[in-house]
This record gives sequence, C-alpha cells and structure tokens, in this order.
Amino acid sequence: MSDDRKKVLIVDDNPVNLKMARNALISAFDVFTVPSVAKMRQLLESILPDLILLDVLMPEIGGYEAIAELKADERTNGIPVIFLTSKADAISELEGLSLGAVDYIIKPFTPQLLLKRAKIHMLIESQKRELKYINANLEKLVEAKMREIVELQGAILSTVSELVERRDDVTGMHVIRTAQTLRVLTEEMFRIGVYLDELRQWDIELFLQSSQLHDVGKISIHDDILMKPGKLTREEFDEMKKHAAFGEKIIDRIQQNTRESAFLTHAKIMAGTHHEKWDGSGYPYSFAGEDIPLQGRLMAIADVYDALISERPYKKAFTMDEAGRIIHDSFGSHFDPALEEAFEAAFARFPCPA
Ligand SMILES: [Fe+2]
Ligand SMILES: [Fe+2]
Repeated sequence: MSDDRKKVLIVDDNPVNLKMARNALISAFDVFTVPSVAKMRQLLESILPDLILLDVLMPEIGGYEAIAELKADERTNGIPVIFLTSKADAISELEGLSLGAVDYIIKPFTPQLLLKRAKIHMLIESQKRELKYINANLEKLVEAKMREIVELQGAILSTVSELVERRDDVTGMHVIRTAQTLRVLTEEMFRIGVYLDELRQWDIELFLQSSQLHDVGKISIHDDILMKPGKLTREEFDEMKKHAAFGEKIIDRIQQNTRESAFLTHAKIMAGTHHEKWDGSGYPYSFAGEDIPLQGRLMAIADVYDALISERPYKKAFTMDEAGRIIHDSFGSHFDPALEEAFEAAFARFPCPA
C-alpha cells in the first residue's frame, strides 16, 4: 500500500456485498470493510477514511443514524458518504441525500460504475480541499499586504506629523494626546448613542490615525511666528490662522494624486475645520453649527483641551480640572452642545498633562 492511496471504508452487514464492493474498489484505493456501525466507530478511532460507503438497512444501528453521527462529529463531518442500498425508491434516495450523503447507489451495483463514482467523489473532495487551501493562502497574502500598507502609512504619517509638530511642540506629544482624547470621546459617543449614524460610517482607527495630520498646514508658518516665545501680535495671529486652510490644501493635493481614501478624507476635513467654532466665530470658514463637519467639531475639543493643559512660553499649563471647566463652559459657543454629555463621560479618561 502506498501512502498517497486514498482510503475507502465500506460498512455493510452483508458479507457478500462487502466483498463485492471491496473487489470493485481495491485496484484504486485502500479498502477497509466493517460489518456494523459499532465496528465503524471503532475503526474511525484509528483511521480517517477519505470516503465512506454506508449500507442503509443494518441490524441495530442503520445507515441514517450512522450518517447523522458522522456529520455531528467535527472529526468526521468532512468525509463524503455514499449510501449503498437496496432501497431503490425515490423517497429513500431523497431522504439519504438530504441527510448529507453525496451519492446514493442502488444494489446490486455494477463494479465498474461503483469504482467510477467513488473516483469522481474523491476528485471533487480533493478539489474542494485544494480550493480551500488556495483561499486560505490568498487571504493570508492579502492580510500581509494590508499590514504592509498600514505600517508604511503609519511610518510616513508619524514622520510627517513629527516634522510638523516638533517645531512648536518640543515633546511631540500633542498629536498623541489629541488622538487619545478623540479615542475616549468617540467611545463614549458610541456608548451614549450620539451621532451614531455618522460614527458607524467611519473606520475609527483610520479616523484617529488621520487626526495626526490636523496641523500639517503649520509647515507653511514661518519659524518666527510658530516658535515665538511670547504672545502673537494680531498680524502674526492672522498669519498663524492660515495653517488650517493650508493643511486642507496640502491633503487635497495628495488626494488628487492617489485613489479615494477615507483616511485622507478625514485628514482633510480635520485640518480644514478644527478651528471652526459652533457659534460661527472660528476660522478659516466661519462655519457654524452642524455646517462644521463632525470630525472638525471633535478635533476642536481635543485640540483646545491639549492646548490648555500644555505649557506655552506665554502661558502656564492649566490643570486637567481647570481645562475641563473651561471646555464645559464653552459648549454651545465654541463646541457642539450635543457632544457635552460624551465629553463629561469621557473626561476622566482624557490624557494627563505631560
Ligand atoms: Fe491647529
Ligand atoms: Fe493642534
């Protein structure tokens, strides 16, 4: 017997039938024969056949009961079963097939035909297995490619945001803390059920990642202004304000050179609208209320919170509680009042000052 020969198990209480079936198949397969379902159970403990030929009418346990048992067991439910029976009526045949048999062969059978049909079912099975294997490999390949892209995107992203942030944020923690703030805020929004329809359309991880680019427009701001150790003059502040629209423009340019991506869409919206205010007094567009995209309304809270708890050359760092109170008092003027409940619930998990 060679190892790659497929194994067929025949279960039949009639020794003549067993022998005939065995003789029909022995040229192509390793054949095991047992006279009862009880013996089949025993044999299955040591051998897993590739095909089972099962008699229907047997004393004690019949074929229908046996197939139910085979299909219920994880170890054997993948083995194709062919009923081999003298019950020649269509109803029996239908019943046998609906129990999960792949074929129904009426006795007495023609040996060549039995062999042919056994071979066909073996072929179908091996093709099924091959397909499963190919699918699993394809999935793995796609997964690996996806991971590669996400890693690459992450690496480019953190480099770019670091380049931008390092100029006015020595620790580089601003983007990390704002992303963390957005994470707990959106978690509470899901829990409470605020803006659920919109949130469900987002890939939250992509949204959080893209938030790192919200100040990318600062690369256009001159060092003298960006790193000025004191309060900005009115003109300087007007110059500084340009970073929002400029960031939007930069991401828009990237978008034109690449395919549609939710990541860039979030990033562009956040860059362009994170300084808008609910009452319309923000910049650059003076949008008001829900005309400000939700991404911008959320980023506004995270950005202001982080600015408040951070020390600047011209201001001390507020404590978490002070910052919380200032934001609390600004719902309805600076921030979307519908986000207040989520803010209050999430606040305890906001990142601490550096
Ligand atoms: Fe900004
Ligand atoms: Fe910022």
